Amino acid sequence: MQNPPRWGSSSGDTERPNAARLYDYYLGGAHNFAVDREFAERSLEVVPVAAIAQHSRAFLRRAVRACVAAGVRQFLDLGSGIPTAGNVHEVAQRADPACRVVYVDNEPATVAHGRTMLRDNPSVAVAEADLRDEDAVLRSPEVRALVDLAQPVAVLMVAVLPYLSDEDRPADVVARYRAAVVPGSHLVISHLTADVQPEMVAKLVGVAAGTLTPFVARSRAEVEPMLAGFELLEPGLVLAAKWRGEGEAATGAETVSYGAVGVKR
Ligand SMILES: C[S@@+](CC[C@H](N)C(=O)[O-])C[C@H]1O[C@@H](n2cnc3c(N)ncnc32)[C@H](O)[C@@H]1O
Repeated sequence: MQNPPRWGSSSGDTERPNAARLYDYYLGGAHNFAVDREFAERSLEVVPVAAIAQHSRAFLRRAVRACVAAGVRQFLDLGSGIPTAGNVHEVAQRADPACRVVYVDNEPATVAHGRTMLRDNPSVAVAEADLRDEDAVLRSPEVRALVDLAQPVAVLMVAVLPYLSDEDRPADVVARYRAAVVPGSHLVISHLTADVQPEMVAKLVGVAAGTLTPFVARSRAEVEPMLAGFELLEPGLVLAAKWRGEGEAATGAETVSYGAVGVKR
């Protein structure tokens, strides 16, 4: 086994593909290992997962800019993955350097990578927590240090809710964060769907089923309750690529995820 690079965790898992490092590879990042690249290349033969990840990240960037434009200066990015390739703090702090970001992930190696990468940015931190446990997230030292819950916050759950099972009751999870934040706070979600391209998405779900981090697709009717209590910004709940989209090329990859941004009034 090769030595982990400087950003790797000391307990780094370099022998099995890891969801966050795969995502990094699909996004063109450099924070991945040979085992990830091999699995990713095999996946790409089956489904255009790199294009899917890039559409998702483009939605994330547009949504973050919308939150900053609405006056939000603090971000809680749940299920953040490795903060690379045009992530939340880069977009938000480019719009206003005063923005503060806490990334949250439950995958220890991902958290270790993030902490190493961000150690020189005092306005950004990475918390290790399971987003299903909102108390653990909100009471983490990183959130206490950087997020003032008396002020509006943007809660991001982008490309992570599919990792929650129906038994986790994802709409209830989102509702608990809504209860914890003040009016003016924003919610950004995206969610894999098989509504438009059932065959492509079945292949994608099948590829993930072979990893340690399987995920599910959900229909529009299943995603809508996750937005309960939020007033949706225009254009509402739509395919994420269409959410204030920039006219991306149509390859099919832009039709597999819903996106929405809501505000708590
Ligand atoms: C596909 S990546 C999405 C990364 C990022 N949100 C984005 O859109 O680019 C999903 C991430 O969610 C994390 N994750 C999955 N389930 C989680 C949970 N219950 N709590 C916290 N993080 C979770 C995984 O470790 C992974 O890093």
